[in-house]
Amino acid sequence: MDNPLIIANWKMKLAPSEAHVLAKKVAKSSAKFTGAEVVVCPSFTELAAVAGIMEGSGVTVGAQNCFWEEQGAFTGEVSASQLAAHGVGTVIVGHSERRAHLGESSDMVHRKIRMLLSVGLRPVLCVGESFDDRAEGQKEVVLLRQLHDALGGLWLTDAQQLVVAYEPVWVIGSGQDVDPKEIEHTHQVIEQSLYDLFSREAVDEHVKIIYGGSVDPENVGRYVAEPSVDGVLVGTASLDATQFAAIVAGALKA
Ligand code: 13P
Repeated sequence: MDNPLIIANWKMKLAPSEAHVLAKKVAKSSAKFTGAEVVVCPSFTELAAVAGIMEGSGVTVGAQNCFWEEQGAFTGEVSASQLAAHGVGTVIVGHSERRAHLGESSDMVHRKIRMLLSVGLRPVLCVGESFDDRAEGQKEVVLLRQLHDALGGLWLTDAQQLVVAYEPVWVIGSGQDVDPKEIEHTHQVIEQSLYDLFSREAVDEHVKIIYGGSVDPENVGRYVAEPSVDGVLVGTASLDATQFAAIVAGALKA
């Protein structure tokens, strides 16, 4: 496997001072991150400060969202190029919390990904089924629909990269472990679907598939040991610098 990709999603959970303290601790641990790619995603308001703190640490800064237009009368929105100007290279799109609370539709997700790719940023497309989808045997149908809606009609050039984060909605914030074999199987389904959308070479060279949902220092090694799991997207456990460093260490050991 390439270097595991570990992305911290701090969500809207930290006051500015807390984000700065956490960023400093993560930067301090970063000497132990060699061999992993580590990205932290604070709130928009803390992006510049956290990017400054991370300078020289090898840890990069990502955003939790962006808008799909380049510029204009879009009150409250932040463009991909504004993010790039702050040193952001990676942007989460279509997180289930945004789909649920902000009405982020598949069409919006698609347009955001198109914009991000066009300005050379790396989208992290979140997909995942709900508890009911899974109980009704609809998990794969839901995932394939999300992937096709978000990515259909797009292509990847040599300079572009994409991350797909498989985050089962029922696992997020639950503290629940998932059978690594189930995760591996789902990642393989996602990979097959990506082969339908892009060339095999583009998928193999430019796309990573990572897992998110209650990732912690204990379960990360089992998840990342699976051949189709290229890394993890971490929520709760990324808010504690010690736990986060242990997650990176666990991924490196796997
Ligand atoms: P938890 O790690 O808290 O389950 O959150 C996962 C997540 O939503 C990351 O985007």
